[in-house]
Amino acid sequence: MAASLDGFIARKDGRVDWLETSDEFADGDTIDPEFAEAFLRTIDCYVMGSRTYETALNFEAKGSGWVYGDKPVFVLTSRELPRTRDTIEFYSGDLAQFVNGRLRPTFRTIWFVGGGVVSGECLRLGLADEVRYSILPILIGDGISFFEKLDRDIALHLVEVEAYRSGIVELRYEVRRHRGESRNVT
Ligand SMILES: NC(=O)c1ccc[n+]([C@@H]2O[C@H](COP(=O)([O-])OP(=O)(O)OC[C@H]3O[C@@H](n4cnc5c(N)ncnc54)[C@H](OP(=O)(O)O)[C@@H]3O)[C@@H](O)[C@H]2O)c1
Repeated sequence: MAASLDGFIARKDGRVDWLETSDEFADGDTIDPEFAEAFLRTIDCYVMGSRTYETALNFEAKGSGWVYGDKPVFVLTSRELPRTRDTIEFYSGDLAQFVNGRLRPTFRTIWFVGGGVVSGECLRLGLADEVRYSILPILIGDGISFFEKLDRDIALHLVEVEAYRSGIVELRYEVRRHRGESRNVT
């Protein structure tokens, strides 16, 4: 996910207007569209919380398109929400059971889109292998945290750092597990 330097992925009311920044870091890399497309092809399916889905539907209604292409998108919700395409599936219940029992046997690369509730749940349940964090050059003071309600420390191993001309810094971490801990420990 993309977050402000102070760790927020959206304002309290869900707005993400601050994602457009105007910084310039002269030594930074530019994003190669071909590389970005090749990377997106490696993702086999997406998982997101209902509030993130509602934001995606709003973006689409305003003409910004559907960024998940024809990949399966699993939306976590206990509510009845509009299903706008065949690639969307809704799920409610135990996330560990869903990811390990249903998704992992079929999909190799499962991308958790967010938001904060779902990424927190994913880490708390020990489901994440990697965390990708893009820091934007802005502080917004308050909002929805990247990881809501973690109840323990999660040790990480830094594997990649990339600084872009736009001032965005991309961090990639592996989630470190204690000896004998499997990926679905709660
Ligand atoms: N900056 C970024 O990169 C980025 C990325 C993603 C999202 N966002 C922003 O983050 C905000 C949303 O984040 P959020 O933390 O408020 O919400 P969220 O994580 O998108 O959605 C949370 C909701 O998903 C449903 N849910 C979660 N786990 C479930 C489960 N196991 N079973 C059934 N339902 C489950 C529940 O809603 P129900 O009431 O429907 O059951 C829960 O309230 C949006 O503003 C979005 O734009 C930003």
